[in-house]
Amino acid sequence: MVRRALQGLPGIIGGTPLIELKQIAPEFRSRVLVKMERFNPGGSIKDRTALSMLLGAIEAGELDPERSVVIESSSGNLGVGLAQICRYFGLRFICVIDAKTTSRNLELLRAYRAEVELVTEPDADSGEYLPARLRRVRELVAATPHAYWPNQYANPNNPRAHQQTMREIHLALDGRIDYLFASVGTFGTMRGCAEYIREHRLNTRIIGVDAIGSVIFDQPPAPRLLPGHGASIRPPLTDTSLVDEVIHVSDLDSVVGCRKLVQREAILAGGSSGAVTAAFLGYRDRIPDGSNCVLIYPDGGDRYLDTIYHDGWVLEKFGDISGLWQETAHQPAPVAG
Ligand SMILES: Cc1ncc(COP(=O)(O)O)c(C=O)c1O
Repeated sequence: MVRRALQGLPGIIGGTPLIELKQIAPEFRSRVLVKMERFNPGGSIKDRTALSMLLGAIEAGELDPERSVVIESSSGNLGVGLAQICRYFGLRFICVIDAKTTSRNLELLRAYRAEVELVTEPDADSGEYLPARLRRVRELVAATPHAYWPNQYANPNNPRAHQQTMREIHLALDGRIDYLFASVGTFGTMRGCAEYIREHRLNTRIIGVDAIGSVIFDQPPAPRLLPGHGASIRPPLTDTSLVDEVIHVSDLDSVVGCRKLVQREAILAGGSSGAVTAAFLGYRDRIPDGSNCVLIYPDGGDRYLDTIYHDGWVLEKFGDISGLWQETAHQPAPVAG
C-alpha cells in the first residue's frame, strides 16, 4: 500500500491510538480501552480543539490569516495547541496565562514564539484566576486591531472537533461502545462525543468525570490542585443532559489513579486521565461482563513531573500514600517472544 504524505503538522492531529489495558484491573471480565490523546503533536487532546476552532474561524471569514491576532486565555494544553497551530499558519498569538501556569508550559509557549501575557492577581470576588484571565482577554481584544478570540468555553467548533474523536473510537470498535468515561473542563470533549453517540444512536452509557470542587455539575466550589479537568465557572458549552452519570473525583484519587497507571501499565498519564481511571475503577463492579469500556486520556504525564510524579510534592500535599497504589500482588506482563 502506498501511503500518501500528510499535509504538514495539522495532518498528524487526531488518529490517536486506542489501546487495550490488561493489567489495570486483571479480574475485570470486560475490555478496557483507552484513547491516548498525548500522541497528538502538541501532546494533548487540545490540538484537535485548537485546529478546529482556527479552521472554523478562517472558513467563516472571522479570522484573516494575513493580519488577525489570536488572543486566548489558557494556562495549559489549549495554549500549547493554539501556539503550535498559530505558528503553522504564521499567525500572531497572545496567550493570557496566570501565576499557576507551570514553567514547562511557559517554556513551550515561548518555544512556539507565542506572546505571553501574565495575570498576577486572581479575581477579587472568587479568588480564582479564570475570571481575571478572561477579563484581561476582553481588554486585549478591545485594544488590538484584528483581534480574534476563539473562546474555547463557548465555541461550537470545540465540541465539533471531538465528534471526530468519537468517530475514531466508533470505527476502531466496530460500533460497540458500552461505556464511555470522559473528563470535563470546557465540556467540549464530552459534548462532541455525546452528540456523536446520540446522532449515531449508539447504545453507550456516558459517564462524566469531574473534579471535586468544580462547579460544572452544580457542586459547591472548592480549591483544586490539578489543572485540566474541572472548572470554576460553568462553561456555556455545558449540557449536563448529555451525561448519564457523573462521578466526582478528588485530587488525591486522581493522583493515585495516575500512579496506578504507571505501576501496572507503564503509562505516564496526566491528572485528568488519573481521574478517569479512578472513576472507572470505582465503577467497574457495576459493569456487566463482556462490555467494551472506553476511557479518554487527554494528555501525558510529562507535564506533571513536578507535581503528580514528584514524590516530595505528593508527600507534602497528601502525606504518605504509597500504600494506595503500590501493591505486592501485581503480576508483571509476560514478555512475548
Ligand atoms: C488535561 C486535560 N484534561 C481534560 C480537559 C477537559 O477537556 P474539555 O475542555 O474538552 O472538557 C482538559 C481541558 O483543557 C485538559 O487540558
